[in-house]
Amino acid sequence: MSFPKNFLWGAATAAYQVEGAVNEDGRGRTVWDLFCERPGAVWSGHNGAVASDHYHRWREDVALMRQLGLRAYRFSIAWSRVLPEGTGRVNLKGLAFYDRLVDALLAAHIEPFITLFHWDYPAELYYRGGWLNRDSADWFADYAAVVARKLGDQVRHWLTLNEPQCFIGLGHQDGIHAPGLKLGWTEVLRAAHHTLLAHGRGVQALRAHCRARPRIGWAPVGMVKLPASNRASDVRAAREATFAVRSGSLWNNTWWMDPVYLGRYPADGWKAYAPYTPPVRDGDLKTIHSPLDFFAFNIYHGDFVRAGQPEPLRWPEGNPLTLFYWPVTPPCLYWAVRFFAERYRLPIIITENGMSGVDWVAEDGRVHDPQRIDFTRRYLRELRRAIAEGVDVRGYFHWTLLDNFEWAEGYRQRFGLIHVDYPTGRRTPKDSFHWYRQIIATNGDALDTDPKTLFH
Ligand code: FCB
Repeated sequence: MSFPKNFLWGAATAAYQVEGAVNEDGRGRTVWDLFCERPGAVWSGHNGAVASDHYHRWREDVALMRQLGLRAYRFSIAWSRVLPEGTGRVNLKGLAFYDRLVDALLAAHIEPFITLFHWDYPAELYYRGGWLNRDSADWFADYAAVVARKLGDQVRHWLTLNEPQCFIGLGHQDGIHAPGLKLGWTEVLRAAHHTLLAHGRGVQALRAHCRARPRIGWAPVGMVKLPASNRASDVRAAREATFAVRSGSLWNNTWWMDPVYLGRYPADGWKAYAPYTPPVRDGDLKTIHSPLDFFAFNIYHGDFVRAGQPEPLRWPEGNPLTLFYWPVTPPCLYWAVRFFAERYRLPIIITENGMSGVDWVAEDGRVHDPQRIDFTRRYLRELRRAIAEGVDVRGYFHWTLLDNFEWAEGYRQRFGLIHVDYPTGRRTPKDSFHWYRQIIATNGDALDTDPKTLFH
């Protein structure tokens, strides 16, 4: 036996990336709608106005999930469909869309995992200061309560925020994601503190308003350093680097995770970020530290480090890369899961992992994506290695179910198990879809089978 019984084999999406229908049924605008209007902001002027047309094709998409044998589906709710101004007036039509989707998933025996916020921040709240405004924590909690009251009798699994490192780092510091700001450190760290506070208040709102006992987590980026060898000194160096904060960079784990899971900001970070550290009021850390049920994170790659060498090792020339130029590093799943379990001591769920490739519909009508199969197979075997050593891993969500709007990259990065022909919306399951179906059906045992023999 490799993967535990009831392992949650999943796939993930996010609202702005798949839904489209940005002007339908009373949806309010978001920072991503605004950002896409900026000349040069998104590759080739693409935007999420139609995206994968999931808002209209959700029935077909659930049928595909059923065909895939998915046990769990992670999707996000567009805050501005539920509350067009971000706060105040509730848009029942927006809520009804997610209600129908949840019903269809449950009827297909697919466990819904709801992400409350996957980057599509309501424009009206952005005009009021957005994450820089401390009230954003209250706004988020009010939104969480509305959703919990509607869906909290049926939905048991919740994630508050997706990847704050990205929407703060790329969105508020580097200006390459919405809302496209290039703020200084004082403002960036203040906004970051407010996102943590929003997370904590969101957890409390879910616990207060869900009728079924909720299981709650959040989905930060999991950044891992990998030991260059199995030598104890390299493993120690990798662990230390995985949990370190360096000045001048937001790209770390502990600044975001320690407050949430341990109730304190990391001391090295507090030093590294001085004098820009945020004002923390009495009670903030207690709120941020509201108990969670599992440790979830998104992960795509890692860097290798060696004892005594502070900088990550250079990649060998010609190291495999995805279309995004992200290095292919299967052991990141093994080491991340081990290191995070050691430090934070909660059951683990991988909420995103996958790759973008050059996938198109071939003359035989199929989409051949052997790289995605090989990538996922290698990563999952590393995950299995951690499980075999006793780490409590409960689920794995492939990013992503179907090709979609890849933020600043527009539609040129295809991450899906299902190909989408954007002009027509036509869906074609890729070879990886058929392969993953076998992996799910055998609870992972087919990882040991030659992929070529598993479908066709
Ligand atoms: C993650 C995002 C997700 C998707 C993947 C490729 O950073 O959470 O929406 O864009 O990367």
